[in-house]
Amino acid sequence: MSDDYRFLKAARRESVDATPIWLMRQAGRYMAEYRALREKHSMLEVINTPELATEVTLQPINAFDLDAAIIFADILPILIGMGLDLEFVPGKGPQLNNPIRSAEDVTALATPSAQDNVPGTLAAISMVREELNGRVPLIGFSGAPFTLASYAIEGGGSKNYVDVKSFMWSEPRAWQLLMEKLTHVVTDYLIRQIEAGAQAVQIFDSWAGILSPGDYQRNVLHFNVRVAKAVARMGVPVIYFGTNMNGMLDLVSTIPVDVYGVDSGVPIDVAWNQLGGPDKVAVQGNIDPIVLHAPWNVVQQHVDDVLRRVGGRPGHIFNLGHGIHKETPVDNVKRLCEYVHEQTEVEPA
Ligand code: CP3
Repeated sequence: MSDDYRFLKAARRESVDATPIWLMRQAGRYMAEYRALREKHSMLEVINTPELATEVTLQPINAFDLDAAIIFADILPILIGMGLDLEFVPGKGPQLNNPIRSAEDVTALATPSAQDNVPGTLAAISMVREELNGRVPLIGFSGAPFTLASYAIEGGGSKNYVDVKSFMWSEPRAWQLLMEKLTHVVTDYLIRQIEAGAQAVQIFDSWAGILSPGDYQRNVLHFNVRVAKAVARMGVPVIYFGTNMNGMLDLVSTIPVDVYGVDSGVPIDVAWNQLGGPDKVAVQGNIDPIVLHAPWNVVQQHVDDVLRRVGGRPGHIFNLGHGIHKETPVDNVKRLCEYVHEQTEVEPA
């Protein structure tokens, strides 16, 4: 049966033969195969060329015992078609050369469909599905409206998010319009990815935790609810992931998704209860990615703690609490995948 994968079953809180595992940013610089390909091609070239994106997506699947693939792309390229000049600057990270500075800039933003905006990623999804030939399911993803807004306004990564917070507070109408436009583009992007073959999707709200719960509730939460509701109609599991949001999991729990990604700042069972409990939702997480730099016995302790807290209850997808670090020792990644399976394997009845 096409839905009979550990990862999809766990997302639906069905029992599994072993706990599924995948890792956020599982394709990337910690792998020599990835670094070799990136020497020949720029980041945007890899993302926009289906053959290259497919090759990179499959690198970790071929190297490790992972239970899901995630399409190789980034959260930021959809901003290009909206009118923002995105560049991945080597050694520095993403940069938007014409960040939003005024209400007029927001009015000028386009809202193209994903077919026109990021056709390469949609084509790559179909290609990966063919190449995978049923080995593991494929996850699609998008940034959440707020996390995208923060890049669009800050122009890149930020230390204290002065620009995005100031804009949100001083330009409430423009903020509303910006979030409306992003909500529209993100929803369309996720739906098109599912149509192209994505069997689950994750919404990355990596920076929402910089807001106070009150600001998140007033200015951000309802847009996430709208994205989640519209995408849920497609009938595939939806995952919402944020970091530093452990003081507002009650708010997060009102976003109607199947799975909540939990960072390493909270014991997974504590978060699970706050999100509605094992009878209502699935959880994904949550060891600190930097733990993979530690000696193996320390990695084991962290994994054991998560598995003990989950206690074999259905609805757990093993993952890191955030994206894998670029200098992670590959051997620990390999052992991690094998160890999670070994420790959770259920004998067939
Ligand atoms: O998970 C996967 O394997 C799919 C690929 C993926 C990438 N970015 C590839 C990438 C995913 C899911 C993302 C999401 C993403 N991108 C997020 C949300 C996840 C998170 O970690 O919070 C964010 C905030 C971005 C924006 C972004 N893109 C940043 C901040 C950076 C630079 C940071 C860094 O690690 O250098 C990127 C570049 C980027 N995206 C790389 C990769 C593999 C590194 C590119 C390279 O130099 O080769």
